[in-house]
Amino acid sequence: MSAQLHIPGVNDLSNDKTTSFPLNQWYIAALSSEVDQQPLGRTLLNHPVVMFRDSSGDIYAIEDRCCHRSLPLSSGTVEAKGIRCGYHGMLYNGSGQCIEIPGQAMVPAKARVGAYTVQEKDGFIWMWFGSKGNHAPLVDAPSYPIHGDSRYVWGGDVFHYEAPYQLIHDNLLDLSHVGYVHQKTIGGTPSIHMNADMKTTGDDVSVQVVRYMRDSLPPPTYTSAYPFGGKIDRWAEIDFQPTHIKIWTGGVDAGSADLTDPSRGGFHMRGFHGITPETETTSHYIWSIATNPVSDPQGTLASVVAQTKYTFEEDKVVIEDQYQNMLRFKDKPMISIHVDAGANRARRIMEKLRTFDR
Ligand code: FES
Ligand SMILES: [Fe+2]
Repeated sequence: MSAQLHIPGVNDLSNDKTTSFPLNQWYIAALSSEVDQQPLGRTLLNHPVVMFRDSSGDIYAIEDRCCHRSLPLSSGTVEAKGIRCGYHGMLYNGSGQCIEIPGQAMVPAKARVGAYTVQEKDGFIWMWFGSKGNHAPLVDAPSYPIHGDSRYVWGGDVFHYEAPYQLIHDNLLDLSHVGYVHQKTIGGTPSIHMNADMKTTGDDVSVQVVRYMRDSLPPPTYTSAYPFGGKIDRWAEIDFQPTHIKIWTGGVDAGSADLTDPSRGGFHMRGFHGITPETETTSHYIWSIATNPVSDPQGTLASVVAQTKYTFEEDKVVIEDQYQNMLRFKDKPMISIHVDAGANRARRIMEKLRTFDR
């Protein structure tokens, strides 16, 4: 049976009293590399936020609004002590407090805007929202040691989707689409993907899907990065958490390695997918891809990143088309098939984590 989706415009939400998103979670707000000398404005979970660094490089996130005449602070400039509004020059620190009003000696205490909790780790900026007025994080932001692993080189990017986050979760938890959507990069024979040896497990807050596709032809992204001898054994290990999904895919020469050995060689692509709602119906997709180069690390990385980007652009077209058609055929039932086991589990987790405080 299909797990329920709560998407405005697609199904009836009139009796739904929960928040649109799980709030007691760390969400990826940006790649570290996106916040440099310039402020970064981004709407996250319906909150317009501006991120910036002070002179010591520490990262802050405050409401993207000047409390004087409401210009977005993201159109201002970053200084050593904070961010200066681009209209009449009020300067705000990282707690959202105004610390200077040009031409006025007194700065009223109420000259302030809201601030958000952020942590920077492993090349990501994480943000915690919290529920029921409690904005203190319950746990530390997740670590992602792959970005510091000397076997790997990595790069990343940020995509914007005109589609709700749940459809991106569905897409990433069901890789049977790879053979149909991604022929030019990571595809291969569609039937190999549809008939993959697949196991789905999980608990209250996570889902794991493991897929093996033995004795298959290596797809273009694989052959351009690694000297395979012929057919390969492929794997995909998907680890879903409510705000991000890690997907380790790769291949070895057929029969040359145990696919359950964590130190297996071959060609690796380790994807990190931060899926952060912008609104109920639009999403940020903040991703990285790491690979283990056999030679020419920068050349291999450039090729893997370019092909990953191409692959994700293919997904974006499908998911945005899918969403538009769901709106046209709203309230029409959808069925589940065998490939949906992981995605349905994830949907149930997300529904359970939505809180009752709106
Ligand atoms: S609107 Fe920001 S200082 Fe006036
Ligand atoms: Fe895809």
